[in-house]
Amino acid sequence: MKILITGATGFLGQSITSFLLGKGHTIHYLTTQPKKLLDSTRYHGFLWNPKKGELNVKSLEGVEVIVHLAGESIAGSWSKEGKERILKSRIVSSQLLFNVLKNNSHKVKNIVCASAIGVYKNSDQWQYENRSEVASDFLGDVVLQWENENRKFESLGIDVCLIRIGLVLSRTAGALPELIKPIIWRFGSVLGSGNQYYSWIHVEDVTRLFTYAIEHNLVGVYNAVAQEPEKNKEFVKKLATKLDRIIWLPRVPTFMLMLVLGEKHVLVTSGQRVSNDKVLETGFVFKFPTLDKALSNLLNK
Ligand SMILES: NC(=O)c1ccc[n+]([C@@H]2O[C@H](COP(=O)([O-])OP(=O)(O)OC[C@H]3O[C@@H](n4cnc5c(N)ncnc54)[C@H](OP(=O)(O)O)[C@@H]3O)[C@@H](O)[C@H]2O)c1
Repeated sequence: MKILITGATGFLGQSITSFLLGKGHTIHYLTTQPKKLLDSTRYHGFLWNPKKGELNVKSLEGVEVIVHLAGESIAGSWSKEGKERILKSRIVSSQLLFNVLKNNSHKVKNIVCASAIGVYKNSDQWQYENRSEVASDFLGDVVLQWENENRKFESLGIDVCLIRIGLVLSRTAGALPELIKPIIWRFGSVLGSGNQYYSWIHVEDVTRLFTYAIEHNLVGVYNAVAQEPEKNKEFVKKLATKLDRIIWLPRVPTFMLMLVLGEKHVLVTSGQRVSNDKVLETGFVFKFPTLDKALSNLLNK
């Protein structure tokens, strides 16, 4: 199958791309950066510039599925301009894809889009895909607008799958290396109340889930999290045990994290307890269902 990927050069994009290539699929990808353009066997890069409304339409030739991941990292600045870039990079890129598909002949049957569990409220109640209450903060607002933009592909007769991704655990990128560092240096501690849930997923499982969504034509919203969300205090404790360390420092109070991180403190002090029941019901099987299994694999312990 020929698959077009946006954001293919990023953390998740690279993992999904290499998995799909390994399964024999052909990948076209869109990048905003000429230096990331490559053209090799079954892997072809094309340029786009969502801000200017430019996209090389050759990238769509023979494509049946789009995996849409592109968007500026939420780890960047949350200044007024930074927030605008985070939101606009998602909305404008979806709008450009929509217009190109609307105005050109193509064979695209479905689009699998990244979304995020940040849409759910900070709560210790289980969160399901059909929950209508949205977090009333910056992230909730971004995810809501992003999902609404991506639902519009349905009006073109294209099946839409929205994957609400949790905290992705990987050895090399994302949150885990940042959580490991202070624990290794013996100044790790519980953050905020410690009672906030981290709904996490192993990078291999989120990669397999995107592939599963493509190959099984999943339609609608699916949470991409393992079945055992952990409270921050348990997560930190389990991580420390795997690293042969103990947490001896007192917890870092929320007001201190607010002073250091500003509004971004919510990334570590808030959390959602997200259910994966819906994706399990489709028959998808997690390779790393528990934090113990995921950390053992990622830390070789
Ligand atoms: N990683 C997680 O834990 C996590 C959790 C929830 C949701 N997500 C979502 O999943 C998606 C992929 O995540 P990731 O961790 O792989 O992100 P990433 O490493 O930051 O990669 C994002 C990709 O998006 C492209 N991009 C950045 N700014 C852009 C812009 N203004 N216009 C068009 N493309 C732009 C970049 O591609 P080029 O440089 O090649 O143009 C980049 O490779 C993101 O939308 C993210 O919000 C991730």
